[in-house]
Parts: sequence; structure tokens; C-alpha cells
Amino acid sequence: MVHVHRFLKCHYLLCCSVICNQAADLVIELSSTPKPKPDVIPFGTVFTDHMLTIEWNASEGWQAPLIKPFGNLSLHPATSSLHYAIQLYEGLKAYRGDDNKLRFFRPMLNLKRMSNTAKRACLPAFDESEFLECIRRLVETDQDWVPNSDSASLYIRPTFIATEPALGLRKPGSALLYVILCQVGSYFKNKAEPLSMWADPKYTRAWKGGTGDCKMGGNYGCSLFPQYEAEEHGCQQALWLYGEDHQITEAGTMNLFLHWINEDGEEELATPPLDGIILPGVTRLSVLELTRKWGEFKVTERYLTMSQLCLALKQQRVKGMFGSGTASMICPIGHIVYQGEVRDSSRPTEDTAFSLALFQRLKKNKSVICQPISWPGSSHFLKSAGFLATPIVMTRLQEVPRNN
Ligand SMILES: Cc1ncc(COP(=O)(O)O)c(C=O)c1O
Repeated sequence: MVHVHRFLKCHYLLCCSVICNQAADLVIELSSTPKPKPDVIPFGTVFTDHMLTIEWNASEGWQAPLIKPFGNLSLHPATSSLHYAIQLYEGLKAYRGDDNKLRFFRPMLNLKRMSNTAKRACLPAFDESEFLECIRRLVETDQDWVPNSDSASLYIRPTFIATEPALGLRKPGSALLYVILCQVGSYFKNKAEPLSMWADPKYTRAWKGGTGDCKMGGNYGCSLFPQYEAEEHGCQQALWLYGEDHQITEAGTMNLFLHWINEDGEEELATPPLDGIILPGVTRLSVLELTRKWGEFKVTERYLTMSQLCLALKQQRVKGMFGSGTASMICPIGHIVYQGEVRDSSRPTEDTAFSLALFQRLKKNKSVICQPISWPGSSHFLKSAGFLATPIVMTRLQEVPRNN
């Protein structure tokens, strides 16, 4: 067992407005039986040798973070995350660069989103910078698992669950923040395969006042049934619609972009606005920031409806549609099945060519904007790439009041 620093008990206010999980108190217990690294494996099935756990309880606050050998959790059968879905997660990646350095892609955006989701889930607040430092130490511990490949990376899954060992729906008195890691290949091998989407307004992914802008497991579990129905209709993913006018919101578990000639004859890249039913994707933001910087066409956050899309398709004004997300970065949409008809979402060559070009440009920028895991001068790095990045400043933990 390696004690990085002596555990310093942190102060905690019962009103749940303060967090403490001090990276300096991190304890590391190394595995004595490291696993062989797999070659090609299905996503999310083989995990690295270690995991990070940080426990919280209402009377003592955050406990010392612990990196320990990967293993099962022991949970009370009444654990409130299992019964009432008081839980959430995030998904981000670490990459190995040509220079052999490990880098995160804009991790503070994920941790900010995680904080926002935690607030909505009535889980305690945590210090995002301190948590990131703990994640950095975990990745450092399992650094041999970060693939030495341009097309593969290490997927990082921070998870936050209520562990209240009692039935009854209430704010949890105990919780567990943990992180597991696994290798992940590239969605694209050499070319972008367009996705087929099934759009049926009878299902809704999210609604105003709900939790569509949060990354809670419950949002995903309930999307499984429509997903299988999409497959029964010969499609790979559900295209999520909302409201009477069949607004297009998201593509499966990706944000959606439409590249078209709009109603005013302007070339436009459009994506639905963050009005509470859209997950604020890190890739979405990066695409918006990048394309705005390029200044090659109008870039807009606006509502898009199926009737606008169908008219544009009929008038051959659609240049391409694509989804954006951590898994694939950019994924072109080939066709949509809507009201019993197959609608080709673009002239095929142009569609994939644009998505692939954007993917390549994003990838090129990714190596510039990725957060070096040892992060010397990283905030300068991010700023010089023109990104409104959240700077990572390694500070000792202070009491951080939660913004209401
Ligand atoms: C519903 C949904 N939309 C969009 C995204 C894309 O978000 P990001 O770019 O942060 O991966 C995700 C993935 O987390 C998602 O689950």
C-alpha cells in the first residue's frame, strides 16, 4: 500500500453545500495480480487493474480517495441507487499521443456536467479539480492500458451512486463516487459508415423540466425499448423527436447536427439549443467552437423539425447530418425512417465526405486541445488552440459552495 499523503480529514457542512475529496489524501493499494492486456475486445467488458473509490456520508463528509485493485462492490440490498435510480455517470477518454504522452480530452467539461447532474440527483457536491487529479492518478497507475494506437483510447467511466442502505425515497445519507477504466477502439476504422435512424414521435427521450440534460442512468435504461424497436425497423439507432411539431433532438446517444442550405438560402450547420432536453455534449461544444472559428458557414443553435428536414430533403438542400459524441466523435447519418418512409438524409458522397472531413479536422485539433495528463501549462495550451476551455488549476481543496 502506498500512502501518497497522510489522510487529512476534511470539514463538511451538513447542508450538503460543500465537498471534500482531497487528491493529496489519496491512498493507493496496488494490485499484486495485474491482468494481461487484451487485444481486441468488445467495449466495456474488460477493465484495467485498478479502480478509484471515494466514499461520502452525511456525518463525516468525503473520505480519503482510494485507488485499489479492480473488484466488485458490496452493496446493501436496499441500496437506494438500485431502487430509485439515484445515480449518474460520465464518459471521457484518455489518449496516447505520438509523443507517448497521455492526454485527456477537455475533462473539466465532463466533470462540470457531472457536478450539475449530481445536484439534480440530490447527491453531494464534489470538487471537480480534486476529482480530476484523482482520476489522473488512476490513469497514471494503469497507464500501460492506454493503447499505443491512433485509433484506440482508454475509456474513463466516473460513476456516482447513492448507497443509502434503506428503502424510502429521500436525499441519500451515504454515497460512493468511483471510476473504472477500459480500453476502447475507434468507431471509425478507415471510413465513416453512415447510420440508419428510426424516427417515431411515440417515444420521447427527454422532456422539459425532466433530466434530459443530465447524464443519469435512468435516461438510458428507458431508451432501450425504443432502441430495439428501431432495430426491428431495420435501423441502428433511434432519432429522438419532441413535441407536436416533431422537433429533432438527439441521435441515439449523440447530439445531432444538420449541415444544409437553410430556408433563407444560407449554408448552415445547425444543432438544437440546450433547452433542458438536450445533453450538453463535450463534442457538440467542440464542433460548435471549431466550426465557428473556421467561419466557413453559418453555425447556429436552433430548433429543427421533421417537416423542415423533409422539405429540405425534397428540395435537395441537405448536405449532411451527423451525430457527435465521445464514442465516435462524428458519425454521419445515412437515412431516416419516418412515418413509414425511408428518407435519405443526404446526397451520399457529400454527407460522408463532410462528416469524415470534420472528423479528421476534429481529430487533428484533438491532439492540440487534449489535456496532457501531466498538464504543464495546459490552460495556456487550450487557450492557444482557441478553446474556451476550463483551465485546470491544481489548488488545495477549499470549501466550494454550490451555485444555486
Ligand atoms: C444522450 C447523449 N447525447 C449526447 C452525447 C454526447 O456527449 P459527449 O460529446 O459529451 O460524449 C451523449 C454521450 O454522453 C449522450 O448520452
